[in-house]
Amino acid sequence: MSGNITFTMIKPRAVQNNFIGPILKIINEKGFRIKAMKMTRFTRERAEAFYEIHKGKFFFNDLIDFMSSGPIVAAILEKDNAVDDFRELIGNTNPEKAAEGTIRKLFAENMTANAIHGADSDENAIREGSFFFSELEQF
Ligand code: GTP
Ligand code: MG
Repeated sequence: MSGNITFTMIKPRAVQNNFIGPILKIINEKGFRIKAMKMTRFTRERAEAFYEIHKGKFFFNDLIDFMSSGPIVAAILEKDNAVDDFRELIGNTNPEKAAEGTIRKLFAENMTANAIHGADSDENAIREGSFFFSELEQF
């Protein structure tokens, strides 16, 4: 059981494809409340800092190129068991393996342009949320 806060980003290709509305609709229908939200953009430097855990992996440069390629929507979401339930709702990292009805199955193009991010722990939800929102905005 995770806590009641998670962090998400609608990624550049999904924003470009006008999927913000359909994705937020599903998120709300599944019982998540939007606590904070902004449309913004990663510089390469900030994307590298956000994804520093992946530095050195073969996909790192593609990931940074992609995540800094256009606007994103960052949001803090609230629900019981938020981190785990949201990971289930977004589906597998690889959209070909994502279950029917998941956001990645519906909206992702491939492993890099995979529509949406979801924090993978309570600790990371707070760390990642702090990249975009002040403590005041989060609560
Ligand atoms: P996020 O919610 O975006 O963090 O996805 P995740 O937690 O399912 O995956 P992870 O944190 O391991 O990786 C972050 C991002 O790096 C993923 O969303 C992918 O876009 C990318 N990525 C991870 N593994 C691979 C891989 O094996 N190949 C490629 N091309 N990209 C990968
Ligand atoms: Mg991750």
